Amino acid sequence: MSGFDTTWLTLREPSDGRARNEPLLARFTAEVDGADQPVILDIGCGTGSTPRAIGPHLRHAVGWRLFDHDQRLLDAAKSRHGGEAGFEFVQGDLNRLEALPLHDARFVTASALFDLCSGEFIDRFVAHIAGLRTGLYAALNYDGRMQWSQAHELDDAVATRFNAHQRTDKGFGPSLGPGAWQHLADALSSAGYRVEIAPSPWVLTADDADLQAMFLQGVADAVTEDGTLGRPQVAEWLEFRRDSIKAVGSSCLVGHQDVLAIR
Ligand SMILES: C[S@@+](CC[C@H](N)C(=O)[O-])C[C@H]1O[C@@H](n2cnc3c(N)ncnc32)[C@H](O)[C@@H]1O
Repeated sequence: MSGFDTTWLTLREPSDGRARNEPLLARFTAEVDGADQPVILDIGCGTGSTPRAIGPHLRHAVGWRLFDHDQRLLDAAKSRHGGEAGFEFVQGDLNRLEALPLHDARFVTASALFDLCSGEFIDRFVAHIAGLRTGLYAALNYDGRMQWSQAHELDDAVATRFNAHQRTDKGFGPSLGPGAWQHLADALSSAGYRVEIAPSPWVLTADDADLQAMFLQGVADAVTEDGTLGRPQVAEWLEFRRDSIKAVGSSCLVGHQDVLAIR
C-alpha cells in the first residue's frame, strides 16, 4: 500500500484523541503505571500520535520505542520527540515479526493499524506476543460503520463498496478491514489474554471540515477504484457529502473499536 502522508495523520490526530474510549484508556494506563519502568513498543507509529495521546495520562516515566517501516514518518516522529528522554525510533517491517524489538517491552500499542492487517498476520502476531506475555492496547480500529445525519440514497452502497475495498491487501496479505478488530480480540482471548473491547467512534462536525473532506475523498477514491458503482454516481455522492459538511447540525460518525489485552 502507498504510504500514509503526514497531512492525513495530523488532521486525524485531534479526532482520534477525542474518540479514544476513555475507560479503556484508563485501564491501560493503570496497567502501565503498575509496571516497573516499562518499555512500550508502538507499532505503525506514524508521527508518534500514540505516545502523545497516552503520555499525558501516565503517572510515571516510561520508555517509548516507536516502530514504523516508513522512514519519512519516523523522521517526523523524531523531529517531535527526538529530544525527549526515553524515546527510541526503529525502522522495520512488521511482517518480519522476529525482528520486532520486543525483548524488554511490557506492552505493545497500535493506533489505526490492525484494520490494515490480514487474519494470517494477526494470528502470527498474537502467537508472537503471547509467547512473550506482552500486553496489547490497539486503538481506533475501523469497524465498518459510516453514518451521516443527512442521508443520501447511495450511503449504504458506498459504505459497502468502501468496506470491500478495505479488505484488499494493505501490505499484510488480504486485509480483514472492518472485521480485523473482532478477529484480533478472538485470537487474543484464545491465546489466554483478558480482553476488553470498547467503541471509539469519530463524531465529526463542521469543526472537523478538513478531516471530513479528506476522508470523503479517500472513500470516493477507494469506491471508484473498486469499480462496482459508476464514476458519475460516486461523483454525485461526493458532491452531496462535501456540500453537507458545513450544513447546520450535520455530523458524520465513523465507527472504530479499541481492544485491550492483558496477561
Ligand atoms: C493509519 S497509519 C497510523 C499511524 C499512527 N499510529 C497514528 O495513529 O497516527 C498506519 C501506520 O502503519 C505503518 N505501517 C503500515 N504497514 C507497516 C509495516 N508493514 N511495517 C511497519 N509499519 C507499517 C504506516 O507507515 C503508518 O505509519
